[in-house]
Amino acid sequence: MRNKRTILALMMSAVLLVAASLAWGADSSKSAFLSGVHKKNNVTCADCHGKSIAVDDNETALNKNCKGCHGGFADLAAKTKEHINPHNSHLGETNCTACHKGHVASKAYCNYCHSFAMKIPAMGTEKESSDKKWVQESSKGAKDQKSARTESADVVVIGAGGSGYVASITAHDAGAKVILLEKMPITGGNSMLAAGGINAARTRYQERLGMHDDPAEMVKETMKGGRDKNDPELVKVLAYKSADAVDFLVSLGADMTDLVRSGGVAVDRTHRPVGGAAVGPHLIKVYRENAAKRNLDVRVNSEVVQILSDGNGRVTGVQVRGKHSGLYTIKAKAVIDTAGGFAANNELVGFYKPQFKETASSNQPGATGEGVALAQKIGANVIDMEQIQIHPTMGGETKVLISETVRGSGAILVNHAGKRFVNELTTRDKASAAILAQPEKSAFLVLGEDIRKSNVQIDGYIVLGLVQQADSVAELAAKMGVPADALTATVENYNKAFAAKKDPEFQRQDIPRPVNGPKYYSIWVKPGRHHTMGGVKINTEAQVIGKDGKAMTGFYAAGEVTGGVHGWNRLGGNAITDTVVFGRIAGANAARFVKDAK
Ligand code: FAD
Ligand code: SIN
Repeated sequence: MRNKRTILALMMSAVLLVAASLAWGADSSKSAFLSGVHKKNNVTCADCHGKSIAVDDNETALNKNCKGCHGGFADLAAKTKEHINPHNSHLGETNCTACHKGHVASKAYCNYCHSFAMKIPAMGTEKESSDKKWVQESSKGAKDQKSARTESADVVVIGAGGSGYVASITAHDAGAKVILLEKMPITGGNSMLAAGGINAARTRYQERLGMHDDPAEMVKETMKGGRDKNDPELVKVLAYKSADAVDFLVSLGADMTDLVRSGGVAVDRTHRPVGGAAVGPHLIKVYRENAAKRNLDVRVNSEVVQILSDGNGRVTGVQVRGKHSGLYTIKAKAVIDTAGGFAANNELVGFYKPQFKETASSNQPGATGEGVALAQKIGANVIDMEQIQIHPTMGGETKVLISETVRGSGAILVNHAGKRFVNELTTRDKASAAILAQPEKSAFLVLGEDIRKSNVQIDGYIVLGLVQQADSVAELAAKMGVPADALTATVENYNKAFAAKKDPEFQRQDIPRPVNGPKYYSIWVKPGRHHTMGGVKINTEAQVIGKDGKAMTGFYAAGEVTGGVHGWNRLGGNAITDTVVFGRIAGANAARFVKDAK
């Protein structure tokens, strides 16, 4: 048996060597590819691939060797002088091979959302790609023939965004052997894009600032925001475990000290890092560090294509398509589905809400909804699939979300006539509808110096070229193409409302800062699809509910893949709470289930 395996391994290596040298040979005439350029510089296959040449799905050796020769992201950010530096982005330190490919044309991952003229050495310029193309790209090279390879774990987690990391860390810490699978070349999902913060009621940070909050209020506001269509039991869990969720994040090393207000809420409940930094990149960095510290088995380029079940509602594992390793099976006692939402899937969005098809999406390219389909295939029930959220403020024609916290920090929404037209801190369904009711179906955020200084994300929008700046309101109006006298009157009235702590025009409850100089700023905004409230039905134990109404055995889900928590309209800041609260419940319950099953 052993000899057979050795012979098989030798044969596989020989095949891989031949394949590699063929690719190498092909590249030598196309020095545009990295392998050709390396070859010209006398770098050998083994210098990049390591001695075995075989590439695992994480492309571990390649990335280690890339960094060994070229340095880490910090070194490269210091060396490369571009205005917008891809080695210093909110994606954090990811695999080099997520962008730099050896034997095919490279792609700048950033260009899915942005349209930078990103020059990758030896690769030419990459133009913006469609979502479909990127998803195909993520599993390119996969061999679809059934593999005999079978592994085992206690718990398999599908999708390495926030919910997936939280569930995996929790299950691991409870003693389970966990494998966390991510189909994209980098981990993070939509969670890594989260801009505003995490909502939590009655936290020590609120109390430190003398703010009174109550989970009961969070329940009320979440239900009202969700038009009372939420599952009230899930909402209670969300709210009453939210302060614990923040403590958990802090215990992992996160900074949640800054507070801001989100729409539809009467208190500053949205927690974020100091200075108003975006919450998502910070949390994903913390999660990645914690996963590494625990030696968690995290695999990128690893798409779950099937959840395995015994046909009687009990899950038994998953089938995975590894980018390099092909199809294989992981047997597991419990599976946690944390594969996120589908707001990047144009077809699926169009199916459920035809009017939203072809609108810009704020989501990462992998937010295409397979997590729901996989669960449905083995009998899971789904809920509210047609409830798709439109965020009021995407930056003009771009895919960049302008965070609600910009309004929370004091910015106003102004139409093309230079006038306010809505309470900026209403729920986002209402704010989006108000913008779409304008003849131009777009609006402007207008803010001043104090607001800019309070929210470091605004400096990011300036770097991205999304912000108009001027030394006076009249000059800003000219740049925006709106009447100067109207905008001047709007700003004066708003500043009076700030001073009086009363907004007679739109009853905005919180005006934390005026729109003041010396510089004034505006951002052109349009609504875009942002969040899918519907998904897999779960109960308060994060167990997936089957079509028969019963909890499925060994099957859990958390985060945007689920439905019921947010009803028909999610409040800003509540999704990250969802990922942490239900990610923890799913992880703990899966680990307990495994222990009990042993
Ligand atoms: P994700 O983080 O999306 O992770 C799911 C992962 O599963 C992805 O990485 C995906 O690639 C992977 N996956 C999918 N299918 C498979 C498969 N078959 N096999 C393997 N892997 C798979 N919410 C807030 O509360 N506060 C905010 O400030 C905030 N800001 C936001 C800003 C932006 C731009 C966006 C897009 C969303 C924001 N949200 C915010 C919403 C929030 O970020 C998401 O709802 C939440 O992070 C979802 O987390 P998740 O772990 O459930 O899914
Ligand atoms: C934002 O910052 O506007 C996004 C917050 C969210 O989606 O919860």
